[in-house]
Amino acid sequence: MDTATPSTHVTSPSGGRYTSSRPLRIAINGYGRIGRCVLRALHEAPGGRIEIVAINEPSDLATMAYLSRFDSTHGVFPGTIEEIDGGLRVNGRDIAVTHVREPEAVQWGAMDLDMVLECSGHYGSRADFGRFLDSGCPRLLVSHPGESAEDVDYTVVYGINHDDVPSDAQVVSNASCTTNASIPVLAALHEQFGIEHAFLTTLHSVMNDQPLIDGYHHKDLRRTRSAMQSIVPVSTGLAQGVERLLPQLQGKVQAKAIRVPILNVSAIDLMLKLGHDVSVPSLNAALEELSRRFPGLVAYSNHPHASIDFNHNPHSVIIDGSQTRTNGDGFANIFLWFDNEWGFANRMLDTTLAWARKFHLQTQAVPG
Ligand SMILES: NC(=O)c1ccc[n+]([C@@H]2O[C@H](COP(=O)([O-])OP(=O)(O)OC[C@H]3O[C@@H](n4cnc5c(N)ncnc54)[C@H](OP(=O)(O)O)[C@@H]3O)[C@@H](O)[C@H]2O)c1
Repeated sequence: MDTATPSTHVTSPSGGRYTSSRPLRIAINGYGRIGRCVLRALHEAPGGRIEIVAINEPSDLATMAYLSRFDSTHGVFPGTIEEIDGGLRVNGRDIAVTHVREPEAVQWGAMDLDMVLECSGHYGSRADFGRFLDSGCPRLLVSHPGESAEDVDYTVVYGINHDDVPSDAQVVSNASCTTNASIPVLAALHEQFGIEHAFLTTLHSVMNDQPLIDGYHHKDLRRTRSAMQSIVPVSTGLAQGVERLLPQLQGKVQAKAIRVPILNVSAIDLMLKLGHDVSVPSLNAALEELSRRFPGLVAYSNHPHASIDFNHNPHSVIIDGSQTRTNGDGFANIFLWFDNEWGFANRMLDTTLAWARKFHLQTQAVPG
């Protein structure tokens, strides 16, 4: 069965439905690749359960409107985007826009918000997040892992643990695109075959922390090099991220990340040492079964793919069965694709709804 067909997906059949009659009121802080994909994913999906009422982004309104309308990766926005006095009007709905870098300078408390989606990538510590909470932000969903597990109240990989978000959490991390892609696969294979060692190599598309040509762009020397001219190894916290979410793999995981000169869609080459020899058909049968357990999140395909096939694909991961290999002694090699922007932006919205269901149930303000 091929479950890799792209579709827009916001509320997964795996749970986390928010059923209040009042749409959730959210704001976006940092309107870059992920922030704009979040807004767009919301407008491409039916349902109207979430309303974006504010965006804070240092750039000017005209450029924000322009980049919302015309996206080199995901195409022209399928709707209307207008500049209005002090904001944007998207498909007829008004969004207030501010342009500051200090979270204290935004009147979060005056907007009757349920949550702020922190998509700037600029904040990682509890002290950083406290700057939002202390200035009226009720809850913060962060688009990357906390600097340490203790810097956030909870880390979600949607589909795996979203039902366990504490209802009184104030800062939740949506983990990373790579943890969302790898955790469902690692958890299932460990359960079924026992992972003795895992080595993940991420082949990641370029990001805005790299320059187009060599420049003084970053403290990491490799991220001063032209993104479009080289394969660039970069540091990654993926191993720690996996061990944080799957403590049963503590001490067994290593990871590397390599930026490759494409605009979007990434892959993970997953090397495993399993407890015993497993054939390629047995592994693929287990992986295909995983896609049936997590519809909308995990897909499986045997087609001869190239990365562009998954641009704008909302799944967290697409397992490429054609690339599964074994080499005796329990060694196995598995290949995973994911749209690092679109998949992750859809998970931000999924987690928003799952968390909202918890805190609305707790306050009993509305039926959940
Ligand atoms: N891109 C992906 O594939 C991906 C996937 C999963 C998770 N993430 C995570 O999501 C976060 C954002 O990544 P991105 O790719 O969207 O980055 P991006 O395209 O650079 O967007 C970040 C935006 O936030 C703005 N910003 C910077 N400091 C700010 C502040 N203090 N307050 C408000 N806005 C601020 C930036 O403006 P300036 O450029 O002017 O500073 C930029 O417009 C990162 O943590 C990243 O790790 C990214």
